[in-house]
Amino acid sequence: MSDNTSVRKCLFPVAGYGTRFLPATKAMPKEMLPIVNKPLIQYGVEEALSAGITQMGFITGRGKRAIADHFDTSYELESEISGTSKEKHLEPIRTVIDKCDFMFMRQREMLGLGHAVLTGEPMVGNEPFAVVLADDLCLNDGEIPNALQQLVEIHQKYNCSVVMIQEVPKSDTASYGIISGEEIEQGVYQIDDMVEKPQPEDAPSNLAIIGRYVLTPNIFDYIRQTKPGANGEVQITDALKVLAEDEMVLAVKLKSRRFDCGSIDGFVEATNYYYQHQHY
Ligand code: UTP
Repeated sequence: MSDNTSVRKCLFPVAGYGTRFLPATKAMPKEMLPIVNKPLIQYGVEEALSAGITQMGFITGRGKRAIADHFDTSYELESEISGTSKEKHLEPIRTVIDKCDFMFMRQREMLGLGHAVLTGEPMVGNEPFAVVLADDLCLNDGEIPNALQQLVEIHQKYNCSVVMIQEVPKSDTASYGIISGEEIEQGVYQIDDMVEKPQPEDAPSNLAIIGRYVLTPNIFDYIRQTKPGANGEVQITDALKVLAEDEMVLAVKLKSRRFDCGSIDGFVEATNYYYQHQHY
């Protein structure tokens, strides 16, 4: 059974080119890059599953077929290693495949994250949904609620759209959507302004939006009305900014650790951390 605050679906926009990882991403999706032995996208799906979500919708593009194959049974591999000592290596992905449904839609033109989310509308319908950018890897060690669980809890308490934020050095604001707002409970801000990729001198704070959202379905209408902004792309931040003028939108400070695996430095840092702490 679902009420109007339960979150059953998660969108994974994975259509981007991943240019920062070329040539590795020439024929392979960025989201299939592994942190030790597990692809980034699987960490994201496992996080959503731990947050109680079982319907996973991917916004894909050309050259992303490996993601669909990853979340499907590989009969050849299964029969090859069935009954051998190697079978245990397949168990984590088998569990994910058994517990979730997977949907795919193609974003034919890379017109930005807002456009990617709008492309996913037919997979979502008229209910609240999560969005995970798998290249923002949030540590999910079971000690505290994972990033998406933290967002779902606040969404269920206030019944509104929520975004995840993290403090960043002021010098880094041009890489993020930046919010400002009033702290209404510890670590929860009611947003009054948002700017996509501001220069440090123009940034309203150092609270940066990271790749986790729980959105109410009226966001689709707001995206439809959003004109291309920074980098000529339809930005989800611009749609959320207008939504926040009309109704409450909250920002929740991430309690766990995050690695920016869309950058080489963050990817290497995550690899070292996960290897040393065996979070794989
Ligand atoms: P990024 O800005 O990280 O772009 O997109 P990118 O193409 O993946 O990587 P670089 O910058 O070229 O190295 C943030 C997220 O939004 C998705 C990307 O797949 C990534 O998960 N995205 C972005 C889309 O799905 N469609 C778009 O049109 C733009």
